[in-house]
Amino acid sequence: MQNITIAIDGFSSTGKSTVAKQLAKALSYVYVDTGAMYRAVTLYAMQNSLIAEDCFDTEALINQLDDINISFKFNETLGFAEVYLNSVNVEKQIRTLEVSKFVSQVATVPEVRRQLVKQQQQMGKDKGVVMDGRDIGTVVFPDAELKLFMTASANTRAVRRYEELKERGDDVSFEDVLKNVETRDRIDSTRKDSPLTKALDAIEIDNSNLTLSEQFETILQLAKQTI
Ligand code: C5P
Repeated sequence: MQNITIAIDGFSSTGKSTVAKQLAKALSYVYVDTGAMYRAVTLYAMQNSLIAEDCFDTEALINQLDDINISFKFNETLGFAEVYLNSVNVEKQIRTLEVSKFVSQVATVPEVRRQLVKQQQQMGKDKGVVMDGRDIGTVVFPDAELKLFMTASANTRAVRRYEELKERGDDVSFEDVLKNVETRDRIDSTRKDSPLTKALDAIEIDNSNLTLSEQFETILQLAKQTI
């Protein structure tokens, strides 16, 4: 059995990371959540007052990119790798609606993308990897053996995200979550550098009406057929 690269792209909150984690575990592959990397850069920008409601100091962020170190460390208890920003575990902080509000803006900056894409390519260079994001099948690993493109209606996705945030104890409104999902989709799909788009050879999976286990089984079969 050969090791392959599995690229999972799609809109916000389509459940990419849930299925990617399950798949990586089933295949004993490494899982890389590239959204977490863009979120960590965004958190850095917020902590250093480079981004706020009405301003974004792109120049300063670009100049400080070398000071931003992002790494992953596997957490045995959780069963997946958590993200660290300059050696601090920021797994929880990067998932807030606040970070979600700014992340797509940060992800439009070509210099940020270049730096993160380089790191992602390095992490997946030996194959045996499941990577999820927006540009994995198109830019990061255009030669990936299996490419999936996940979709679901904006409302379905917002409900899932809202429930996730509520479960964590975050005080958010459904309207804000829906607005954020729609805004991120728009910015991610229309940006100049590496817009979110389905690779020509990607298999589209609309999971609006699939249970988690149905979705996982479908994707596991596709992976097994490819390996
Ligand atoms: O996957 P997640 O929703 O955590 O990603 C957060 C944001 O990071 C996306 O909305 C997008 O703006 C950006 N992103 C990206 N390219 C990737 C992964 C994420 O632009 N490969």
